[in-house]
Amino acid sequence: MLKPEDNERLTCVGPGTPMGEVFRRYWIPALLTEELPEPDCPPIRVRLLGENLVAFRDSNGKVGLLDRYCPHRRVELFWGRNEECGIRCVYHGWKFDVDGNCVDMPNEPSESNFKHKVKITSYPTFEAAGIIWTYMGPPDEMPSKPDYEWIRAPETHRHVSKTFEGCNWLQGLEGGIDTSHSSFAHNNNIADKNALRTRAPSPKLEVIKTDYGFNYAGIRNLGNDGNYVRAYQYIMPAQQMRGAMIKWKDGSREEFPSIAGHIWVPIDDESTWVWNFIYSADKLIPFTKEFVLEHETQFGRGPDDLLPGYRLKRNPSNDYLIDREVQRTRTFTGIEGINTQDYALQETAAPIIDRSKERLGTADAAIIAARHLLLEAIKDVEAGRKPRGVDPAAYRNVRGCDKILSLGVDWKEGMKEDMCGCY
Ligand code: FES
Ligand SMILES: [Fe+2]
Repeated sequence: MLKPEDNERLTCVGPGTPMGEVFRRYWIPALLTEELPEPDCPPIRVRLLGENLVAFRDSNGKVGLLDRYCPHRRVELFWGRNEECGIRCVYHGWKFDVDGNCVDMPNEPSESNFKHKVKITSYPTFEAAGIIWTYMGPPDEMPSKPDYEWIRAPETHRHVSKTFEGCNWLQGLEGGIDTSHSSFAHNNNIADKNALRTRAPSPKLEVIKTDYGFNYAGIRNLGNDGNYVRAYQYIMPAQQMRGAMIKWKDGSREEFPSIAGHIWVPIDDESTWVWNFIYSADKLIPFTKEFVLEHETQFGRGPDDLLPGYRLKRNPSNDYLIDREVQRTRTFTGIEGINTQDYALQETAAPIIDRSKERLGTADAAIIAARHLLLEAIKDVEAGRKPRGVDPAAYRNVRGCDKILSLGVDWKEGMKEDMCGCY
């Protein structure tokens, strides 16, 4: 349960809001590199943290992320001509470079120096892991570039995608650090009473706060078979990482030991880009195309599952194509796609859940811890301090892990090496 005012502090992300200012202290994913495929390609509209922006790739390949509206008479620069290292507004021809400088003002007298006085808001960008990242905060607070292990993994060992989710970002994050729901919402074979998460549906949670967020484990006691431990990382402000031993039977390989996760980036208060990544835990095991395709499909975002604009075909307009017969006989939800199951539950609850009406139990310990850390980050930013987790040194080598340990082995010891990166 959360006080209504704290719920608002945590969920609203526009400029000047408490959480909005926290997000503006970290680098965040803005676009997939493939969305701006080549120099001088068409500009695209972007909306992030409640701000309307336009992105373009200039003649030198640099990405500009600017206020979407021309400072002259405020029309959309989306209509602009992307040419010769700048985007030119098609209303009166004013032109801006990637840093937001007005570099041409052809409808004013040539002797005028007005153009030197005009600048448009621009946010810095850089590209890594197939993602265009941006930083939308005060320039003098800009931290070093993000350095998650998955960014350093080679392209052959990694896959990144994004999908649209129609609800507040915190609903997504809270699903991502909620290990107990996987025994229910993601039970895709209700007949299999031996599945690890079915055998032990009430994990014991242990949360360890760190300089970047927390490391937490859901410990499922399997009796003589040991403890099934799912160890997660929560990296401030909005990233989850977990381990996965993915068995894959149809191809050339049996196993892809992997680490997967998400970053929930607010588009605005009521919609979110969910960034999905998975990378190989083992330098010697690159992914195959077939594996990536099967994995993305399993999670509900294969090529056949998507509409244009990175949206899911299974969405609120068609009740996610729930099949009640499948729900009766085969899967817990009757909805196909692991992350589609999450979206169904999170998107339809409310655009922003009223957390003052919740009843949290012990299985929600990680969610409670994340809220504490986020409220602490809000206070830090309000007091002019750096929030937790802006320094990449704190998290650059951490990863999640999924493993069965002998009874009596402490997971922090037993998984120490597994939770340390190799790239
Ligand atoms: S509105 Fe853009 S140049 Fe006039
Ligand atoms: Fe989930």
